[in-house]
Amino acid sequence: MAKIIAGIGSSHVPAIGAALDNGKTEEPYWKRVFSGFEKSKEWMAKTKPDVAIVVYNDHASAFSVEMIPTFALGCAAEFPPADEGWGPRPVPVVKGHPALAAHIAQSVILDEFDLTIVNKMEVDHGLTVPMNLLFGQPKDAWPCPVIPLAVNVVMYPPPTGHRCYMLGKALRRAVESYPEDLKVVIFGTGGLSHQISGPRAGLINSKWDKSFLDNLSKDPKKLTRIPHLEYMREAGAEGIEMVMWLIMRGALDDKVDEVYRFYTVPASNTAVGHIILENARKASSTRKVAGKSKRGSAGKSRQAAARKSIHRIASKGTR
Ligand code: DHB
Ligand code: FE
Repeated sequence: MAKIIAGIGSSHVPAIGAALDNGKTEEPYWKRVFSGFEKSKEWMAKTKPDVAIVVYNDHASAFSVEMIPTFALGCAAEFPPADEGWGPRPVPVVKGHPALAAHIAQSVILDEFDLTIVNKMEVDHGLTVPMNLLFGQPKDAWPCPVIPLAVNVVMYPPPTGHRCYMLGKALRRAVESYPEDLKVVIFGTGGLSHQISGPRAGLINSKWDKSFLDNLSKDPKKLTRIPHLEYMREAGAEGIEMVMWLIMRGALDDKVDEVYRFYTVPASNTAVGHIILENARKASSTRKVAGKSKRGSAGKSRQAAARKSIHRIASKGTR
């Protein structure tokens, strides 16, 4: 079966992409930022995931403000970089994993999370910058297929942190009911504290950010109770992007190993946060624990029935 082995949190500041694209990584300002990702690139090169699910937000690049899905799952075979005003970034086209994405859509929707299915989509810095930070700057192709999950955090109302966390759990059930053995990593991107416009432009709140990272690692349920207004007040208007990290966290074990953390201020207007969390549970015990899920019995049997039918469809060769 497929398995989520680790979660990665990373900021997605567009100026980081511009620094990479324009060869500025050795400048002291940018070296401070990129040096924090050297170990992470080594970790990723060693981990060699088969697929990455990247939870990110579109910044009115793919969807504009005329149509804003709350949760949109990229099911296409490929996702070209978006033109964000200076032409598309010179990064490889992101290849998808349509079979796993379709399976996730089916599983998660039958699990009562009504995602938007997207069969054609461009991806902006929200996705491509964290890809660079963890996978470096490949010229021709990214090292693994990617399933983008776009979350609305640009126009009120974004989803709650709790909803995001629960979606992470549904994603995990989806991945673990996919019959092929695949090592999957999940990214939560955006944040940390930043506010780009208005009287509080430039706001950064390191104390709040660090406590968010501590709780993300050790007590994520506490974070699910943070209301939108607290994100806005404490982490700035764009700090609301941090709810996306809770999707990543929800997809992991309750107890995780924090294997890496990095925090630096600022990059452009933003506090850069980065964390790598590994699932501590061994592969052999995964099935047992997954089978002993604490969900209510009605939900459990509905899930089981839905998953059985998914298995049947998958084994009939839709993948
Ligand atoms: C900045 C950060 C973002 O997350 C973003 O989407 C746009 C700009 C910034 O720090 O400038
Ligand atoms: Fe952003």
